[in-house]
Amino acid sequence: AQGSAGNGSRFTFPEVEAGIDERHHVAEGYDADVLLRWGDPLFADSPVFDPTRQTPEAQRRQFGYNNDYVGFIPLDGSSEHGLLVVNHEYTNEHLMFPGIVQVVEEADAKDPAKKVAKLKIADADQNRVDVEMAAHGGTIVEIRKTDGKWQVVRDGAMNRRITADTEMMLTGPAAGSNRLKTSADASGTRVLGTINNCAGGVTPWGTYIMAEENIHGYFTGKLPENHPEAANFKRLGIPEGTYSWGRFHDRFDVAKEPNEANRFGWIVEVDAMDPTSVPRKRTALGRFKHEGADNVVNKDGRVVFYLGDDERFDYVYKFVTKGRYNPDDRAANMNLLDEGTLYVARFADDGVMTWMPMVFGEGPLTAENGFQNQGDVLIETRRAADLLGATPMDRPEDIGPNAENGRVYVMLTNNTRRKDTQVDGANPRANNAFGHIIEIAEEGGDFAATTGRWEVLLKCGDPAVAEVGATFSTETTRNGWFGMPDNCHVDTDGRLWVSTDGNSPKATGRTDGLWAVDTDGPARGTSKLFFRVPVGGEMCGPLLLPDMQTAFVAVQHPADGGEDWDGFGRLSYYEDLSTRWPDFQPDMPTRPSVVAITKQGGGRIA
Ligand code: FEO
Ligand code: CA
Ligand code: CA
Ligand code: CA
Repeated sequence: AQGSAGNGSRFTFPEVEAGIDERHHVAEGYDADVLLRWGDPLFADSPVFDPTRQTPEAQRRQFGYNNDYVGFIPLDGSSEHGLLVVNHEYTNEHLMFPGIVQVVEEADAKDPAKKVAKLKIADADQNRVDVEMAAHGGTIVEIRKTDGKWQVVRDGAMNRRITADTEMMLTGPAAGSNRLKTSADASGTRVLGTINNCAGGVTPWGTYIMAEENIHGYFTGKLPENHPEAANFKRLGIPEGTYSWGRFHDRFDVAKEPNEANRFGWIVEVDAMDPTSVPRKRTALGRFKHEGADNVVNKDGRVVFYLGDDERFDYVYKFVTKGRYNPDDRAANMNLLDEGTLYVARFADDGVMTWMPMVFGEGPLTAENGFQNQGDVLIETRRAADLLGATPMDRPEDIGPNAENGRVYVMLTNNTRRKDTQVDGANPRANNAFGHIIEIAEEGGDFAATTGRWEVLLKCGDPAVAEVGATFSTETTRNGWFGMPDNCHVDTDGRLWVSTDGNSPKATGRTDGLWAVDTDGPARGTSKLFFRVPVGGEMCGPLLLPDMQTAFVAVQHPADGGEDWDGFGRLSYYEDLSTRWPDFQPDMPTRPSVVAITKQGGGRIA
């Protein structure tokens, strides 16, 4: 079903005007309805959300914070009834807890006689930390479309909250490694919780995949002198200490429980159909700052997961299962992710790429380099990839395979630290502030291939600013360009949707949003704005359901950031007081929310 705009674009919706204000905006002719807000009840007995009296007990029964990945697992094969699975990536305490941002007067560094007003976040107490831990993780919730509108089924039998405390199992080659053992778990196979779940995936057998991304911020303390994990931790920036969890929970203090950090940074698989199931951390897919895990069933039945490691100069990976997907036997698929091959990508300047297997004993992955077994290779995936000579990329985010044509879209969000001397074909801009998108064509359309070809689909940024060097098509309007591609989704018709992270500062005059990008024919490289977020928000999701009649998007941290002074004499570096999205109630904080987009009167999103 090809749409037809002037230049052969496959998108016909009227474009949204880029801009910045307190609301969300969707293309004319579509409705964008808030479906689930942080704090919304998920169970019959969930307490009403009260921002002034938050408790971990209440938060465990409510929708979590900072919705990121949104997936859908159909029930009865329908696009009108299913399980919505949503990652809760992280918490912004200054936005969550009213009154904790304090104005303090301090002596000016340059002129001590002068006092300057500064904003400080009050120190955390245990309740605040435990609410944060309960607001992390994920949500599985039954939803149903009735008379064209989506509703949460509050007593859905499969509804579930997963948090930073949910019991999980480590499986695959690294499970049971001495490096995964802690004082609470002598087996090295039992772990509590998942954190910083960014993008993710849904498998054809109805499991929910959560990627653990920026795990370093949750660990505090100092590793003992000459600790054997020192190099491993340094490569991941552990401990960074953004959060105060380690003050109340010893396992997040690396001085007390150093191996706990080795139990995070994995891909987690959850059987969404069984609310009592124990989620599995699948170590075969490696340990790094996992962005997402979109996947595709290859022609031969093996399942291929595309994995980005979101850090400047880190790598693009894929995992190919050893076993084959069996559509007639769900149980036979449940441990496919424990056996297979992890590959890391090398992008040569001539447009050829190589997927290099990461197998203990092969090439440099030997005892000589400190690896005793495959578990070690996986615990230190980044170091193994360094040794293999993978191509350092401009922050690999979400990666979207197109099942129909063997192509794969890689979001590279930005890298302002890349110097002129570090520019290469696949990372063609120094000081890459706006990011780019690479299109991979796997050899022979075989997703399990170890070679492929690649080209840059788009260099992002404002085409009107020549120095930026953006490459959107000339059909792309001033609303249609974007920077900082982050999440992506390839819909049932093979069309590419891209959401962004980082367009929000007021100086840019535009917020993050969801863009539709043509990848084929004369319209290739044309982009159009479909939805934009309120000020301070970041755009996540996105997902079009198989029937193409609903798009789900996730708005993270509305009102975050802003200026030091908001123009009305109020300090608002932490919180932009010009929006109270989505409730617009003075006593209600802004709330990250999932939004359902449908066409007015029904029909496909075109
Ligand atoms: Fe959580 Fe790479 O974004
Ligand atoms: Ca992301
Ligand atoms: Ca995705
Ligand atoms: Ca993001």
